[in-house]
Amino acid sequence: MNLIICNDYESASKVVANMISDSIKIKPNITLGLATGSTPIGVYNELISKYNRGLISFSNVTTYNLDEYIGLPIDHKESYHSFMDRNLFNHVDIKRENIHLPSCDLNDLNNNCIEYNKMLNSTSIDLQLLGIGANGHIGFNEPGTSFEQETFIVELTNKTREDNKRFFNSIEEVPKLAITMGIKNILDSKKIILMATGENKASAVKRLFSQEVSLDFPASCLNLHNDTTIVIDKEAAKFILKNEL
Ligand code: F6R
Repeated sequence: MNLIICNDYESASKVVANMISDSIKIKPNITLGLATGSTPIGVYNELISKYNRGLISFSNVTTYNLDEYIGLPIDHKESYHSFMDRNLFNHVDIKRENIHLPSCDLNDLNNNCIEYNKMLNSTSIDLQLLGIGANGHIGFNEPGTSFEQETFIVELTNKTREDNKRFFNSIEEVPKLAITMGIKNILDSKKIILMATGENKASAVKRLFSQEVSLDFPASCLNLHNDTTIVIDKEAAKFILKNEL
């Protein structure tokens, strides 16, 4: 795994956005895997700014998102469909038909997983952007998930629901289930960038670099991938900088 340590959230966002925009320039019809959550918002802002300055176009870009909550209407402000529209898609020239997120239509959840997985297996993600949960989850692959797992319905852990409570009025409103790409789908990406910032990610980052490869810590699967870059800020690098690995 390559490691880039940046001064702060802003510079980490710029570094990741530059990596993505360079990839779009090299391959305008690139397939991107995208994440939601707080971490990539700065990256998406940077990409929108590059688009507005005419530096990149999304007109031939295809995207697949990692995950979506089950039980939220698609137009709920915290659904990942809404999140992506608000933070990226509504502001760039991406074609609607090139945007893919898991469908959480309650009538056909199992089939939705199968269909999303089929789409993933019929394409190839050139560049996958990831965040990381404090418990090491990537996408919504919680501790214990097999590295062979493909797209599935996941029961979110209490830790993840607690962490995501900040976006909702109360813990009761945080969905208990989601559809997520599995670890296998993520590892199938040609290139992976994981971004982590802030002190609350420092322990997860430390564990990521501990050489451990274990199902208890899903992000440790990235040790098995041959082109992963971790971009972190100084706060998330706290233990690395103190040499406390
Ligand atoms: C979101 C996702 C999650 C987040 C993780 C970190 O699509 O897949 O794995 O990346 O929960 O979330 P933030 O960035 O809010 O700390």
